[in-house]
Amino acid sequence: MANPWFESVAEAQRRAKKRLPKGVYGALVAGSERGLTAEDNIAAFAELGFAPHTAGLANEKNMATTVMGQEISLPVIISPTGVQAVTPDGEVDVARAAASRGTAMGLSSMASKPMEEVIAANPKTFFQLYWVGDRDVMAAKVERARRAGAAGLIATLDWSFSYGRDWGSPFIPERINFEAARRYAPQVLTRPRWLWGFAKTMKIPDLTVPNMVATPGDKAPTFFEAYGQWMQSPMPTWEDVAWLRELWGDKPFMLKGVMRVDDAKRAVDAGVSAISVSNHGGNNLDGTPAAIRALPAVAEAVGDQVEVLLDGGIRRGGDVAKSLALGAKAVMIGRAYLWGLGANGEAGVGNVLDLLRDGLGSAMIGLGHTSIDQFSPSDLVIPPSFERHLGVDGVDAPFAPHSSGKG
Ligand SMILES: Cc1cc2nc3c(=O)[nH]c(=O)nc-3n(C[C@H](O)[C@H](O)[C@H](O)COP(=O)(O)O)c2cc1C
Repeated sequence: MANPWFESVAEAQRRAKKRLPKGVYGALVAGSERGLTAEDNIAAFAELGFAPHTAGLANEKNMATTVMGQEISLPVIISPTGVQAVTPDGEVDVARAAASRGTAMGLSSMASKPMEEVIAANPKTFFQLYWVGDRDVMAAKVERARRAGAAGLIATLDWSFSYGRDWGSPFIPERINFEAARRYAPQVLTRPRWLWGFAKTMKIPDLTVPNMVATPGDKAPTFFEAYGQWMQSPMPTWEDVAWLRELWGDKPFMLKGVMRVDDAKRAVDAGVSAISVSNHGGNNLDGTPAAIRALPAVAEAVGDQVEVLLDGGIRRGGDVAKSLALGAKAVMIGRAYLWGLGANGEAGVGNVLDLLRDGLGSAMIGLGHTSIDQFSPSDLVIPPSFERHLGVDGVDAPFAPHSSGKG
């Protein structure tokens, strides 16, 4: 067998594409509408350059930090993704890989594995909630997370139910029945390694979401049943955010998906302990700028009051370095680990985390830093119109050059 180790996230993606059935791969590519935001998340990192030193560099690389009360060995954690059928153990594989590399994990409400199993594999697990149902329903889910020992809660509210991709959406069956098997067969039969992974477990992917019920073991809805409930739920208010935060008690609470300075301030007022500057990996309102463009203004406004993380577009250690230089305490990764999982299961996720650690280490050497808290904007070459100041006296046009003269 060829060496399963890969040298870049791009290579992991190529292997995942080869190995996974087309529909599963397409679900990981995700993105919405024209894909502007998903593309900008990547393009924006490429616009940022480094300003390296030549001599007087150091070997020491102190990357340890804390996020939401958890000690982590590098400033990279797993972002929650609701993805099915990549490997039989799914999120448990991801949790094990994250634990083995000393880092934390966000677990999605839409995940395929129960939170109790994931937390057993990695106690540094934050459970992610969407706002589905009413306050009573939400409270019951929060109680389950508390009983299961979740280290923190992540509330993701930035979903706009955008659908329709110009490059086409994959066929995802409601459940695996005869019709689904017939439609899936042509793509699955050409992917023997993926099929063998499931065949060994004597189970077929059941495509249910076990964290959407309040009691572990209760009959779980399918992904689409849960999605339907979610679409019919009233949209949460800032009062609901404050209510949820208070209900969770003393443990850390993150609001994920903040892009605007005014919203970041409201999140602080609602009592959150962390925010993630994020556009959901370009899966919600297409035309939202890259998260990294919005980061500096948000970090400057609230970075001394809450932990500011970033997610969206992280594919290499250099991207982590750029995010830290622009004010993030740590980053979360989505597709990068999904490609690793698709390419080589648990070991592939570990491989991705190792690549990010090594790449961050290279940036530290080049920039002469011995500790990640030494990153600053002066490490970077930042084009004049790079930043976006959303929610500061009105909104910058998402892709027009920034001309407000602010900051
Ligand atoms: C396939 C897929 C599924 C996702 N599912 C969720 C989810 O269930 N909950 C959530 O908060 N974010 C979800 N996200 C968003 C990620 O947590 C994260 O914000 C995003 O992937 C970061 O961008 P990146 O993929 O470029 O790293 C999902 C992203 C992808 C690609």
